[in-house]
Amino acid sequence: MVNYQGKTALITGASSGLGESYALALTDMGAHVILVARRADRLRNLADRISAKHGILAATVLPMDLSRKDAAASLSKILKGRNYQIDILINNAGFGHAVHFIDEDPQSVIDELTVNVSTLVELTHAFLPAMVERKDGIVINIASTAAFQSLPFMAVYAATKAFVLSFTEALWGEYRRSGVKILTVCPGPTATEFFDSNSNSPALGKYMRTRDEVIATTFRELAKARPKPSVVDGGLNKVTALSSRFFTRRFAAKLSAVIMNPNKKN
Ligand SMILES: NC(=O)c1ccc[n+]([C@@H]2O[C@H](COP(=O)([O-])OP(=O)(O)OC[C@H]3O[C@@H](n4cnc5c(N)ncnc54)[C@H](OP(=O)(O)O)[C@@H]3O)[C@@H](O)[C@H]2O)c1
Repeated sequence: MVNYQGKTALITGASSGLGESYALALTDMGAHVILVARRADRLRNLADRISAKHGILAATVLPMDLSRKDAAASLSKILKGRNYQIDILINNAGFGHAVHFIDEDPQSVIDELTVNVSTLVELTHAFLPAMVERKDGIVINIASTAAFQSLPFMAVYAATKAFVLSFTEALWGEYRRSGVKILTVCPGPTATEFFDSNSNSPALGKYMRTRDEVIATTFRELAKARPKPSVVDGGLNKVTALSSRFFTRRFAAKLSAVIMNPNKKN
């Protein structure tokens, strides 16, 4: 069993969705959380709820735009300046749009690459060394089932998640004997604000997972004596992720294009 009591977790993208749920779950298990995202009001509201339940020191709010090139460096400087020891890093902030690639706003593409990839790598690089030194710590990077095959009409998003999966599994291989747990979490479609901003996505209705299911999958994996490098949330999502191994890449791209086409009627 992992003991979260008294640990400090840095959670990016904590203003809604999975990030908010990770914060609530960790504070319920006795951890202190540092909440990062742009929407300061949402972070403060969450911190107030956590503090009301667990005490005044349970949550710290650090509003920040992680698409800024210097975001990770600033964040790590602030935290090191305040002498925070980060025991758990959850790189959860991320976004993507279901649109034709040529219709994407160029700046939004750059922001997506920065938030989903660069900042995630830089934060891992900033906080992993001290964990390895202490032979203790947890890094959780949020990928997606979109990581397992190309995704026409969400081309950039899926490619960023393939990066997160590959990068984090590689770190697992590198540090699995270091005492630090490194886990890639691959949710499938999950009911969060991600879908509110992606009304073009296919309607998934009853196939949608809940935030709590993803959080439970994460902590169940971490509780194992030998956690895997990555975990897919939900049985159907596991089948989907696995099935892509048996398709040719050509067939997978064509099939995904049919499923993801924003112009088709669901
Ligand atoms: N929901 C799904 O179906 C699904 C499936 C697979 C993977 N995922 C992944 O799960 C993670 C969490 O997403 P979610 O589903 O919980 O969606 P969500 O509710 O939209 O949450 C996304 C979080 O990322 C933060 N964020 C986005 N851009 C940011 C920026 N520039 N700077 C700082 N924070 C930023 C948002 O905060 P602010 O807007 O306040 O900045 C928000 O807290 C993402 O990495 C997503 O790709 C989601």
